[in-house]
Amino acid sequence: MLVRISPAGTPLPEPTPVVLSMPPDKSILHRLLFLGSLTTSAFRIPIESSRAISHDVIATILALESLGVPVEMGEHGIDLQGVGLHGYRSPSHAIHCANSGTTARLLMGLLAGQSFSSTITGDISLSTRPMKRVANLLSTMGASIETSANGTLPVAIEGRRLRGMGLTLPVASAQMKTAALFAGLFAEGITRVREPVKCRDHTERMMAAFGFGIESEEVIKVMPAFAAMPSDEIEYLVPGDLSSAAFMIAAAVLLRMQLTIEGVSLNPSRTRFLDVLTLMGVELEAVEVLEEWNEPRGNLTIFGDRRSGTLAPFQLGAEDIPLLIDELPILMVLGLFANGESTIHGAEELRVKESDRIALAAKQFEAFGVEVEELEDGMVIQGVPERRLAKAAIHHDGDHRLAMAFSIAALFCDGNCEMEGAESVAISYPDFYEHLQRVTGTGCVEVRK
Ligand code: S3P
Repeated sequence: MLVRISPAGTPLPEPTPVVLSMPPDKSILHRLLFLGSLTTSAFRIPIESSRAISHDVIATILALESLGVPVEMGEHGIDLQGVGLHGYRSPSHAIHCANSGTTARLLMGLLAGQSFSSTITGDISLSTRPMKRVANLLSTMGASIETSANGTLPVAIEGRRLRGMGLTLPVASAQMKTAALFAGLFAEGITRVREPVKCRDHTERMMAAFGFGIESEEVIKVMPAFAAMPSDEIEYLVPGDLSSAAFMIAAAVLLRMQLTIEGVSLNPSRTRFLDVLTLMGVELEAVEVLEEWNEPRGNLTIFGDRRSGTLAPFQLGAEDIPLLIDELPILMVLGLFANGESTIHGAEELRVKESDRIALAAKQFEAFGVEVEELEDGMVIQGVPERRLAKAAIHHDGDHRLAMAFSIAALFCDGNCEMEGAESVAISYPDFYEHLQRVTGTGCVEVRK
């Protein structure tokens, strides 16, 4: 799919406030599918249309199907029937996780303690990403997991009896934490997990809400136990994904317009992006409307400032990174337009995401004519507050978050920019271009199939 983006021009001639809802939060939905499958309840997960289901989530659905879990995608959403803690069936083929690192790593935790063997594979990009560190962590619990010689997929798991252990995560990774907590459900004794820096906590919240044995303090403890679900038919409305919303929020900030995102996750382990925006001088309001299954959600409004609209630069360090890891690509784009020098440190994990996000972003920003310094663990960006970049071809290497972030930067180039492979946005946000067309409202985003 080819996308052509022409200059949006700011402020927009007549910006009308826009209201959007996001796709279901990907992190919560992966966990809901996996943890729900370990209960004996039936789940109905309403989703506006099956189109809004991201490709990463489809990878988890297909993985569960190959483990014998009844799960169906329909027009109204997803239906899942839990099979209990010991209900997975030995898969007849390798489980292909496509581009989804969360699917692969969470599965490693779930499959390590089964009574059968399994193999996990993925697409070319996922097959370059580190899996050895998860394998090593789980092997201290007695797991038998072989990665490729490079420490990547394919991963071969021989199901084993696991022992609960005290584990310290070598990196701040919610995927790794979750793999360990999931494995703990199948281990003998208590598993204790300590994180170097706090990262997103959806697993802990959901395990507690579903009645699995978990205590979440400085050290997280998991006790092997069946979930005691309050009812056997559950409707679970997943909050909208704030990491997807971040792209539209950034577009609204740069276009100086008002945008409301309804029903979005306001889990505090995901909202550091909003704190940074506030420090940059963006006026916003988050109103929590509901907490269900321990997850808060609400409505978020960005008030575009049509008068000044200057953005202060930001400084981010290691303690911020896990709380806004997926928002870094779009934050970097906001940094391009800030009034001064923005810096990011402690973000070396960005180099092993769906692409080397530091290297690719630095290259793209240079092509846009911005001065950036690539650091091993981040970047220094000299902002151009007048919001005018040089037009350039866009290269994102199939990385969905870079494709979206660069598309938004392209709205401020001095000519038309074209981008091939735009379909990769569906990995997390299938409606991205439709929403961007609504936010810009000017026909400057043209999608050619
Ligand atoms: C995720 C955790 C993050 C994030 C990813 C989803 C999760 O990765 O980048 O998109 O759902 O646990 P790490 O925390 O493992 O870096």
